[in-house]
Amino acid sequence: MSDTTVNTARATPRIVVMISGRGRNLEAIHQAIERGELNAEIALVVSNKTRAPGLGYARLAGLPTVAITPHAFADRESYDAALARRIGAEAPDWIVLAGFMRVLSDAFIAPFAGRIVNIHPSLLPQYKGLHTHARALAAGDSHHGASVHLVIPALDEGPVVRQGRIRINADDTEQSLADRVLDRIERPLYAAALADLFTGRVTPADDGGLYRDGARQDTPPIMDYD
Ligand code: GAR
Repeated sequence: MSDTTVNTARATPRIVVMISGRGRNLEAIHQAIERGELNAEIALVVSNKTRAPGLGYARLAGLPTVAITPHAFADRESYDAALARRIGAEAPDWIVLAGFMRVLSDAFIAPFAGRIVNIHPSLLPQYKGLHTHARALAAGDSHHGASVHLVIPALDEGPVVRQGRIRINADDTEQSLADRVLDRIERPLYAAALADLFTGRVTPADDGGLYRDGARQDTPPIMDYD
């Protein structure tokens, strides 16, 4: 085991959820916790946008929130350092990116290495970056999906814990596909992948890969959500 392996000493992992927008995945994670399907405590919801609608959900749900906007900072490094300080103060076991639409610097990632999780709306390694739904449609793909992965400094490249996919319909638009991927796949997929990690069922390997149930996970499990 590497020294970046998450300690599972806490019976209930403390998580910080980072959002930029509606926070639909935050909502799904919170509801999975409330239903007793995911053992975790949301210590803080952080947004880079004061008006992120997801902050409204979090406040109504009684979750602690903070908005830290980049405007007040000279550069990305000082902004990320402020984010890391505020998040570090919560001593989280995990940081969960749920539609956090800023690239995090290496300096932010390093202290939390192996403990940051992201959801990306594509079947990684396909379509890293933005506009994933439009790109899948333009390519004429038969399927599209989402991936939950550990965050490493290279964008959307960390080891994938789980994936979900659906068929692309002939009449799909970018919006209809994005909505279906989010509602049908991402919301249930994220809670399931977090449970894999939080229970120690999936663990990082020293070489950047993953183990699942003690065996090497060469390819992530992929579920059909049609
Ligand atoms: C989600 O589809 C998420 O996968 C994506 O942004 C959306 C946020 O939706 N994240 C990324 O593209 C990260 N690269 P939300 O604000 O409604 O939760």
